[in-house]
Amino acid sequence: MDYETPQFFRVIQYATEADRDVVDMVSGSPDWDPPAALREGLREYADAPPAANQYPPSVGLAELRTEIAQRRGVDRDQVLVTNGAGEANHLAMAGGLEAFPGEEVLLVDPTYPYYAGRANFLGAETTAVPVAADGHVDPAAVREAASADTAVIVVNTPNNPMGVTYGEGAMADLVAVAEDHDALLVSDEVYDHFDYSGRFASALATGSAHRLVTNSFSKSLAITGWRVGYAVFPDGEGLAEAHPAAGLHDRARTRHMLTTVTGSRPAQAGVLHALRNTGPEYFERVRRRMDERVTVLTGALEDVGAEYTEPEGAFYVMARFDGFPGTFEHVETLVDEAGVAGMPGEAFGEARADWLRFSLTTDRVDAAADRLRAFFG
Ligand SMILES: Cc1ncc(COP(=O)(O)O)c(C=O)c1O
Repeated sequence: MDYETPQFFRVIQYATEADRDVVDMVSGSPDWDPPAALREGLREYADAPPAANQYPPSVGLAELRTEIAQRRGVDRDQVLVTNGAGEANHLAMAGGLEAFPGEEVLLVDPTYPYYAGRANFLGAETTAVPVAADGHVDPAAVREAASADTAVIVVNTPNNPMGVTYGEGAMADLVAVAEDHDALLVSDEVYDHFDYSGRFASALATGSAHRLVTNSFSKSLAITGWRVGYAVFPDGEGLAEAHPAAGLHDRARTRHMLTTVTGSRPAQAGVLHALRNTGPEYFERVRRRMDERVTVLTGALEDVGAEYTEPEGAFYVMARFDGFPGTFEHVETLVDEAGVAGMPGEAFGEARADWLRFSLTTDRVDAAADRLRAFFG
């Protein structure tokens, strides 16, 4: 698999150039509105004095870091504001590979392809741990795959592409694997607001120095274009100087500064305003809408006898159709003949190469469900 070039754009381009109407179930970009307070914050910012248009602190606006720290139950000093979870994941993986012994990154298969591409980019070896039959990661399988060469283990919950949410026990076990193998568990939690199972558990709950959590507002506030994310580093307090996690945060701050200088100030200010002025109803409404879309799509999958993983979180449903494996060619057939664009399972690894991933970030899930019924029925 060519992980150097993320494949999303290839499918999106094919769908865009198709000779017919296509429901786009490829991208992970929300199609719904951000909170009203976010637009309000941005409008107000336009009239701010000149100083508000200058560099924010490289680590992020202090008030935003405080707000994040309070929400995540950590110390503000542990928080670094980044250009999306993408940058946070990069700093985490690069830092982990440098600080922890070993050259290898363990990934769950199927995986969000940017992790694998980034591991390539960083010159690391990757080992893929196939998910269990229910689409969850089995911590015992991760333990078995881990070795003295494992420097970083990357997990994502709620999960892209499987649409499952890992529970508290699994997260504690994964952190324990990282501790026992002197590795860093990077837990990407960008879909934390999209848990339909009630079982989401952050890796932060463990308080271990062997876990680093990444997140962003791309999905939770429906602003993938704003580029505001963050990393929560292990608490350095009390760590021996020789501990691999001891210098992790300082080095990441420096790298962040050297590569990006800092993040966007208006974007951070807008996010802060939104966080302070948005009630839980906004998030509940969005979750309800996603839940309805899940019901519509899985209804069609049931009707045509497809196998699918019970959606518990994030925006995605993985499904397998007998005699129609999830190759790029079949994705193109589905675009041309059914008018539905999904992602091929093979873009995410080998374990679910036969499957297709459908994203629920479209208000045309009804049309997609009808078209899948007509095509596979
Ligand atoms: C698992 C996962 N992590 C990170 C990202 C990127 O997040 P950001 O927009 O904050 O860089 C995505 C986007 O789809 C994702 O699915």
